[in-house]
Amino acid sequence: MIGGGPGGLYFACLAKQLDPAREITVWERNPPGDTYGFGVVFSDETLGGIEHADPVIHERMAESFARWDDIDVHYGGTVVTSGGHGFAAMSRRHLLRILRERAGELGVDVRFDAPAPPVANLRRDYDLVVAADGMNSTARRSDDASFGATYENRRCRYIWFGTDKVFDAFTFDVRSTPAGVMQVHAYPYDATGSTLIVEMTEDVWQKAGFAASPAVVAPETLVPGDSDDYAIERCEELFGDLLGCDTSTGRRYRLIGNHSRWINFTTLRCERWHDGNLVLLGDAAHTAHFSIGSGTKLAMEDALALVACLAESPDLPSALTAYQAERQPVVVSTQRAAQASLEWFENLRQYVGQPPLRFAFNLLTRSRRVTYENLQIRDPEFVAAVDDWFAVSVGQPRRPPMFHPITLRGMTVANRVLVSAMDMYSSTDGHPGDFHLVHLGSKALGGAGLVMTEMVCVSPSGRITPGCTGLWTDEQRDGWARITSFVHEQSPAKIGIQLGHSGRKGSTKLMWEGIDDPLPDGNWPVVGPSALPYRPVNQIPRALTVDDMTDIRRQFVSAAQRAADAGFDLLELHCAHGYLLSSYLSPLTNRRDDDYGGSLRNRLRYPVEVFDAIRAVWPADRPCSVRISATDWAPGGVEVKDAVEIARTFAEHGVDAVDVSTGQVVSHERPAFGRSYQVPYADAIRNALAASHPHVAVIAVGAISSYDDVNSLLLAGRADLCALGRTHLFDPQWTLHAAADQGYLMPWPKPFAAGSRRPQTGRTDGPKPRLDLIRDPLAGVTLHGRWRPSQDAMPTPPRVNIGSAG
Ligand SMILES: Cc1cc2nc3c(=O)[nH]c(=O)nc-3n(C[C@H](O)[C@H](O)[C@H](O)COP(=O)(O)OP(=O)(O)OC[C@H]3O[C@@H](n4cnc5c(N)ncnc54)[C@H](O)[C@@H]3O)c2cc1C
Ligand SMILES: Cc1cc2nc3c(=O)[nH]c(=O)nc-3n(C[C@H](O)[C@H](O)[C@H](O)COP(=O)(O)O)c2cc1C
Repeated sequence: MIGGGPGGLYFACLAKQLDPAREITVWERNPPGDTYGFGVVFSDETLGGIEHADPVIHERMAESFARWDDIDVHYGGTVVTSGGHGFAAMSRRHLLRILRERAGELGVDVRFDAPAPPVANLRRDYDLVVAADGMNSTARRSDDASFGATYENRRCRYIWFGTDKVFDAFTFDVRSTPAGVMQVHAYPYDATGSTLIVEMTEDVWQKAGFAASPAVVAPETLVPGDSDDYAIERCEELFGDLLGCDTSTGRRYRLIGNHSRWINFTTLRCERWHDGNLVLLGDAAHTAHFSIGSGTKLAMEDALALVACLAESPDLPSALTAYQAERQPVVVSTQRAAQASLEWFENLRQYVGQPPLRFAFNLLTRSRRVTYENLQIRDPEFVAAVDDWFAVSVGQPRRPPMFHPITLRGMTVANRVLVSAMDMYSSTDGHPGDFHLVHLGSKALGGAGLVMTEMVCVSPSGRITPGCTGLWTDEQRDGWARITSFVHEQSPAKIGIQLGHSGRKGSTKLMWEGIDDPLPDGNWPVVGPSALPYRPVNQIPRALTVDDMTDIRRQFVSAAQRAADAGFDLLELHCAHGYLLSSYLSPLTNRRDDDYGGSLRNRLRYPVEVFDAIRAVWPADRPCSVRISATDWAPGGVEVKDAVEIARTFAEHGVDAVDVSTGQVVSHERPAFGRSYQVPYADAIRNALAASHPHVAVIAVGAISSYDDVNSLLLAGRADLCALGRTHLFDPQWTLHAAADQGYLMPWPKPFAAGSRRPQTGRTDGPKPRLDLIRDPLAGVTLHGRWRPSQDAMPTPPRVNIGSAG
């Protein structure tokens, strides 16, 4: 073992217990007890794993746990408390002492004050070398490429302190100071003190004068025990009221340093965790931002899994492969949540106008792991309070947030769910036919508040494929009128039309025949702001002249007039996904040197001209939205700050809603897909416009698939409406089903009323197990008088059970 941190020592203890014949040597460069940090936090789940693996260690840890349920959010002069969170923490020093002593009892050779020998020598002399030497692991850095290591340096500054104040809850304190917004995370770790971390963005840190502090030292000059005394003094001043004083003695609580200095968080990711007989563990393999509190927990869970894989596998290579296969997905998922959390804190200032209850809910759901439903289980009263606040703010009785109506100009939508625009490529000559009637009609019957058409093209050459619908003839208008009439007559849903022009992405095959591939024959010429093809196989577009642009603008106007006549409730201008108007917005696709290219202001000119023109003919009481790609996911392209400006400009021109999608602008994009992956962009836009344009609604879209997520996003103020695309292809009655599942009485279409309850499934009438604490000798699982969940539903089972295996 290189490194005697929690990961290394825990691995050594477990591995020695499972096979006492093993010779295990741990090299730790520091003396015993010399370590940074203060307290470590564990969730109940991790503690379960530790308890099953080695009850002795668990028992000793449990003796000194500080346990608490509450999270306090200090913000805007108030404290909002949410309960039921179940944490345990202890002093990091004490944890290391327990592990050290246990390792000694078990006969592990732990050498302190002993830098490890060169890794090449260890690899030669030992069967297995475990690099548990922390984030700056020399073992890993000796061959970063073998492990596919990447480092992402983040932009906030933070510092770890201890304090002799024992907080009685996990405490967040977010405050506006003259230098800007700062935040504190603090949690108790035993009866003597708490960990307290101060964090702020680089500019606030500079303004607050921390950069000038003589005590800031370069990491390489740091000696153990060095702390930034200036930071301690300043932070005591800044957070003196939070620290408070001992009421019995009047003594002020203090901040305490321990290797404390300002740092920027680095997220380390490794593609591979082992190479020959060298394996990475804990911080040497990955880091996750402290705001989801999991460095020590992940290191100990890695240790557990590695020991189990060594015990279960026939040889070393397969054990190491199994270890990575087991742990990497868990770590990647934790890192994804940690990334959402760290970005939330980096962008904290955008939320500082939110009312306290919403702010607290937003903070608690920031990593997307904790949701509306989780919080309802943990603390129903807290969720009820936030629900009540939301209901009052929208002037309605309390109900699940997604079922609150919303009004845009003269249109009131019954709930906050949209069927996102989805091209069906099922039209002939641009006509909406029976397919479109059934497709959109069934979605309207399915309960969504607003059903969007696919991108409806303003001209034959503005189509993406020969199967796209259009609105350049009166016959097409009448076809659409048949659909809007059905929706209005048969459902409470509203129906919106998305108008667009394909630009350089036109003249391609139907989606299922080859998305974005040119037609085998019958291609029509394509156009764009500049003569840049989407991909080398696509046509080079003709750069539009100003006269051409005027013609296309007129096509949009005619289509808008027909859309009004066809009875649509909302008109959306498609300025996303690399189609014509989107390609004006992106600097990667717009290289014009006239008034329509160059600066963002110029790139916005044509899309805004089109918007103004359609707004002028669209009925004044009906709303208009615009869909944008809020990032191109490519260097040099549109980024979130541009997206905010784009949204703001449309808001100034009278848009009623901004539908926030991303990407599909350039073929070399690198999107970071994942659950609700586009929501941070909607969030940034919504909160940026909240003060100046509170009536502009923001629509979030992209892998939002559960009603729990919809409720969470709405309550947190990340969006006003949620659009779901593929989910509605899976379940056209998604909103009706979501209402039934939440026990919300939503009117069903009368002919469907008989089916408005979820069909009954098979019943199990067997007696329930009554006894507590039944040992399962195979899995080592303890059953606590309840049905054992099916294997699928079970969390990662405990892997090592030295206690009962004897
Ligand atoms: C300044 C700081 C403060 C922190 N405070 C906290 C906190 O209060 N609470 C919390 O939960 N988490 C804290 N963390 C994060 C947490 O410490 C880690 O996520 C966790 O300790 C990871 O455990 P590990 O065993 O993988 O690595 P580490 O705990 O980093 O242990 C690695 C060990 O390897 C040793 N080592 C490195 N190189 C060599 C070598 N060549 N030879 C011999 N020994 C070597 C190091 O001295 C160290 O003891 C802190 C991190 C930092 C950087
Ligand atoms: C088959 C299909 C067709 C789509 N067509 C359009 C379209 O015409 N206009 C548009 O803006 N987005 C279109 N999209 C994107 C969706 O509106 C939505 O933004 C995307 O699918 C992400 O949401 P989801 O994860 O809920 O599906 C399409 C998506 C799919 C799956």
